Amino acid sequence: MRKACIMGTGFYVPDRIVTNDELAGLMDTSDEWIRQRTGIERRRYAPDEVGCAELAHRAALAAMENAGIAPADLDCILLATLSPDYHFPGSGCLLGQKLGLPGVPALDIRAQCSGFIYSLSVADNFVRGGQFKRILVVGSEKHSMALEFATRGRDVSVLFGDGAGAVIVGPTDEDRGILSTHLHADGQYADILWLECPGSAHPRWLTQEMMDQGRTFPRMTGKQVFRHALELLPQVVLEALARNRLQVSDIDLFIFHQANLRIIENCCGQLDIPPEKVYNNIQEYGNTTAGSIPIALHEALSKGMLQRGQHVLLASFGSGFTWASAIVRW
Ligand SMILES: CC(C)(COP(=O)(O)OP(=O)(O)OC[C@H]1O[C@@H](n2cnc3c(N)ncnc32)[C@H](O)[C@@H]1OP(=O)(O)O)[C@@H](O)C(=O)NCCC(=O)NCCS
Repeated sequence: MRKACIMGTGFYVPDRIVTNDELAGLMDTSDEWIRQRTGIERRRYAPDEVGCAELAHRAALAAMENAGIAPADLDCILLATLSPDYHFPGSGCLLGQKLGLPGVPALDIRAQCSGFIYSLSVADNFVRGGQFKRILVVGSEKHSMALEFATRGRDVSVLFGDGAGAVIVGPTDEDRGILSTHLHADGQYADILWLECPGSAHPRWLTQEMMDQGRTFPRMTGKQVFRHALELLPQVVLEALARNRLQVSDIDLFIFHQANLRIIENCCGQLDIPPEKVYNNIQEYGNTTAGSIPIALHEALSKGMLQRGQHVLLASFGSGFTWASAIVRW
C-alpha cells in the first residue's frame, strides 16, 4: 500500500535572541528560576513586521529546498498555529499567496502544541488517499507580541518563543514513511491553558474590562498542565509503540514537543528512554508551540541523529488539552 513520507524539512527562527536576564529586567523573574523549572536559556523574538505567515514562509522555503522541490510542486498547504496573523482568513491562505500559489487549498489547523502532529496526520491521510501529492506542512508561531511582559504574566511569558518549522509530505512506494499517527483532545481542560479574549463566547468581542483584567493574554494553571502532561505524554508514546508492535528500544530518535525540559525528562524516565535518543532544543528557542517539533526534527537530522530506515517517534501535549504522537520510518 502507498505510504506518505517526509520528503524534506526546514525551519526559520528570527535573529533576535532574548535571554532570561533580559526578561528579568521586565518582570520579577530570574535566569536561575527559568532554567531550573523549564530548561529554557533563551528564545527568539520576531520583528514587528514579521507575523505567523511570514515566519511560515521562510520555513517553507527552507523545507522545499531541502526536499528539492519548487512551490509549484505543492498541491496543498496545512498550517498549524495558535498565533495567526488575523482572526480570519487563516494564515495558510496568506502563506499560499506568499508562495505564489493561487488556487492551491490552504487549511489552518488549530490544535496548539499538538498542531504539527495533527497536521502531519491530515497530510498522511490526504497523500495515502490520493487526493494530494505534495503537501506543505508548517507549524508557525509568533508569540512575542501577545505575551504579558510584567510580573502578572511571568509564568507564561518566560516560556514562549517565536519560530516556524516545516516539512514536505509526499507519496512513497518504499518500505518507509509515516507508520501511524495518534490524536487526542479533551476540552474540559480548555481554561487551564488558554487565551480567553477576544472571542465569540463573550457578549462583546473585546472590552476594556477584558484588557484591564489581563484576559487578552495567555493564562495557564502551570501545575495542572504539568500533572496532565506527565500522565498523557507517556500514554500516547505507548499507544504509538503498541500500534506498530515496537518497543522503546526499536526507536532511534524521540522528539517531544518542547514545552518544558522537566516534563520531557520525567516522561523519558517513566518509559526508560535513554537521553542519547532524545533531541531537545528548548534551551535555545523556548516553547514555539506548533513550530517546536519540526524545528527539532530538522536540527536532529542535520546532526545525523536519524538515518534512512531508522524510526523516529514524535509526541506532544498542550492546550486544549490536545495530545498526539506519530512514528515515522525514515
Ligand atoms: C510553569 C511552571 C514551570 C511553574 O513551575 P511550578 O513549580 O509549578 O511553579 P508554580 O506555578 O507553583 O509557582 C511557584 C512560584 O513561582 C512563581 N513564579 C511563576 N512564574 C515565575 C517566573 N517566571 N519567575 C519567577 N517566579 C515565578 C509563582 O508565582 C509561585 O510563587 P508563589 O509560591 O509565591 O505563589 C510549571 O508549572 C510548568 O512547567 N508547567 C507546565 C507548563 C507548560 O509546559 N506549558 C506549556 C504546555 S504546552
